Parts: sequence; structure tokens; C-alpha cells
Amino acid sequence: MTVLSDVALPHVKVLGSTMAYREAGNPEAPVALFLHGNPTSSYIWRNIIPLVAPVAHCIAPDLIGFGQSGKPDIEYRFTDHVRYLDAFLDNAGISSAYVIAQDWGTALAFHLAARRPEFIRGLAFMEFTWPMPTWDDFHADAREIFQKFRTPGVGEQMILEDNAFVEQVLPAATVRKLTDDEMSVYRAPFPTPESRRPTWRFPNELPIAGEPADVYSILEEAHRALEESAYPKLLFTANPGALVSPNIAEKFADRLQDCRVVELGDGIHYLQEDHPEVIGNTVNEWIVGLGAGSGPKQRLTL
Ligand code: BEZ
Repeated sequence: MTVLSDVALPHVKVLGSTMAYREAGNPEAPVALFLHGNPTSSYIWRNIIPLVAPVAHCIAPDLIGFGQSGKPDIEYRFTDHVRYLDAFLDNAGISSAYVIAQDWGTALAFHLAARRPEFIRGLAFMEFTWPMPTWDDFHADAREIFQKFRTPGVGEQMILEDNAFVEQVLPAATVRKLTDDEMSVYRAPFPTPESRRPTWRFPNELPIAGEPADVYSILEEAHRALEESAYPKLLFTANPGALVSPNIAEKFADRLQDCRVVELGDGIHYLQEDHPEVIGNTVNEWIVGLGAGSGPKQRLTL
């Protein structure tokens, strides 16, 4: 069997480590910033970026500890990702963008939008994190395994030793079967138990039943700001979804201003792997409809 690897990405120095990023499109066009979640990387946007590149300057960082980015000796808490992403954006001179996000990428996007609403030209999102008041709000099929991930000793065994987020969660929450080549790219950043710590931390950061208290309160505030915000929004939903069912998505969108909902059909959590063409083409048309190119030009210094 031939195992294809991903292309080697460019890196920038960030807070004493490095962050890798994927880039495409016209550097003079407004930025489309793609933010991934756990345990993926910018690779998950690989079939979407070429569809958006004709109308935007696409930038997709690998979050710190993921993909081809560095693995500094940090806790990989949500607030660590905030620091590293902020520094990445500063280094790159990105001061506004269309943001396209999934999973933990949405938590970063919502928090960024709450702090810097002027940054956001528009927000496209899917399978988003939201503060869940109780465990009953968490998808029933995934509840037990995520409770184990958050049980001291058990979670470390499953995720650090057995690589459960890559080997179990990723394939189980994608409708189609990921190919061996695709799985090998997703495995590559996590060859050892210690290298998998970022993938263990994220499920322990999910804001459920008030815990962890700091992440819960940051995301409550970010969601309050999202509800008050006026920038254009595009919400992709799938059936049954994992963090977000079509029913939750519909009710959620009703509370937002200027939010278009696009139903993708069958999908669980990694919707970019199951519906790249619809997501990419819809984001392209949405950006064109919002008048990309009419805003201030930016030259990046990546
Ligand atoms: C998560 O990363 O939060 C997640 C992944 C798969 C299913 C549900 C949640």
C-alpha cells in the first residue's frame, strides 16, 4: 500500500514555537480564515479551500500542537489556543477576515468575535461548541465515551495510550470511510502518547454542566455576544450531527441576526470530510454575495 503524506506546509514563529498554515488565493483579496478542531488540522479544509480561493485569500493555520505546528510544553487548554491563534494573526498582519470554523475552531472564532467584532467580515460555522447546561444536552451516542475521556486515568489511557481521538472518534464521526492515506495524514502528528496530549485536553475542555468553569464562562459570554452581533452568518447543519442536531441548529439560528442555515444531509461531526463541495461552493457564493473585494485591501507578512 502506498501511504501518501500531506504537503509540507510553511511555518511562522509564534510565541517561541512554530505554527504551520495552508494558503491559497489572491493575497490582495480579503482573508478567509479557516479554523479546525480536534484531532484534525488544516488538512480537513483541503478540498474546500480550492473552491473558496477564487474569491478570497485563504489562510488555514494548524492549531498549536496539531497538524504540522509545533508542540511546545504547554497545557493545551482553550486559553492556550487563544494566545497562540492571536499571536499567529498578529504576526501575519490579519486584522479582518471571513471566518470559516468547525468544532473547537468555532469556540476560537466566537471568542475572537466577542473580543474583536470588527475583525469579522462574516462567520460560517458548523458543529459548533456551546455551553451545555447538562450532560443530557450532549449527543447520546457519544456521551459515555466523552465521560470516560474526562475520567482521570481512564481518559489518559484511552487517548494518550490508545490514540482514541484519532483511531475511534474521527472515523466514527465521519459518514464515509476515510481512506488509509487520509488516516495516515491525520495520524502523523500523534506518534507517541505525549504528542497526543492536545487531543486529550480538548474533550476535557468541552463546556458541559458548568465545567471547566473558566471555559464555560468564556463561551457563555461569547455566545451572548454572538446573539447580539450583526455580522453575516452561515450555519451548516447535518443529520444527525454530534454537537449540533438539525433541531438545535434551527432554534439557534432563529436567535441570531442575519444567519442563513444550509442543510448538508447526512453528517456527524467532521462535515468537511463528507460535504466539501457544498461547503466550499456555498462559502464562495456567500463571500461573493457579501461583496468581497469591496473592503480595505490587506497585505500579509506571513
Ligand atoms: C468534539 O471534538 O468535540 C467531538 C467530536 C466528535 C463528536 C462529538 C464531539
